[in-house]
Amino acid sequence: MIEALKNLESEASREAGGAVDSKVLQEIKVKYLGRKGLFASVSARIGEVPPEERRAAGQELNRVKAALEAVFNSRENELKAAPPRRPGSCPDPTMPGTFYALGGLHPLTQVVLDVTRIFSRLGFSVVEGPEVETERANFEALNIPLDHPARDSFDTFYLENGKLLRSQTSTVQIRVMERSKPPIKIIAPGKVFRPDATDATHSFMFHQIEGLCIDTHVSFADLKGVLFAFAREFFGSKTRLRFRPHFFPFTEPSAEIDLYFEKQGWLEILGAGMVHPNVLRAGKIDPEKYSGFAFGMGVERIAMLKYGVEDIRQFFENDVRFLRQF
Ligand code: PHE
Repeated sequence: MIEALKNLESEASREAGGAVDSKVLQEIKVKYLGRKGLFASVSARIGEVPPEERRAAGQELNRVKAALEAVFNSRENELKAAPPRRPGSCPDPTMPGTFYALGGLHPLTQVVLDVTRIFSRLGFSVVEGPEVETERANFEALNIPLDHPARDSFDTFYLENGKLLRSQTSTVQIRVMERSKPPIKIIAPGKVFRPDATDATHSFMFHQIEGLCIDTHVSFADLKGVLFAFAREFFGSKTRLRFRPHFFPFTEPSAEIDLYFEKQGWLEILGAGMVHPNVLRAGKIDPEKYSGFAFGMGVERIAMLKYGVEDIRQFFENDVRFLRQF
């Protein structure tokens, strides 16, 4: 009989646990604890138990009865607290889902990635240089001696330790030349700094992408070919380019390159030229043997032209209403 009670107890708990609502639970309770239920029929067999075991059997009967009542009560409470779904019902797939706001890449990051992807396909690898630089990399080695008036146009922030914040990514030209031998074909994106008053087209910090190609027999025609290929890939196949003579201390000859835009006309987008022999020498490269071209473009500038952004400050204000558009 004790065995039968144990089975009854575990069966009843299992069934109660599976009851999906109070009504079903009530039916199960009647099946076990009702006047003609399973518990009653087991307890009726108390008479068959030998007298010496009867006391223990009686105690077990009481324990199981109390236990079953507790099981049914607690299941009843559970069902009241959280009515489970009816069998056969399932989540409604037409309900709107949970919205998670996704981040995106900053427009300047996107432009850098777009530009570097195009140059990668032209065989350039991407390198980076430090933002805190030496005078030598930012000026001397780029053929800008201390007393040269061109220092003004590349003026920067000077640090107390004698270093400075680079005012152009051309510094990376020097670093790459010093540590590698031609052929060299790299582009170098990064931040630059200039002590400019902030307005719609100026910022004390902005981004440039530098390009450098050095090998035997590199000519100005190669420079033109690469820049035309880039501009037409980036701005569209009908893009028109204009090379305008210019001066940079680190290139000779030098040019500024303008792009033609329907609305604004010709706009300058980058500086370029053939790497000056003094710069090659500073980078420990023999100018009799090697030649090269270099160029530098402003990332904000081309992002503004590509996306029609009118104020450079919008890139740095972190206003999500602006950023979300990209
Ligand atoms: N460093 C120049 C600038 O900041 C751009 C440039 C790079 C020009 C390389 C020529 C060659 O304006």
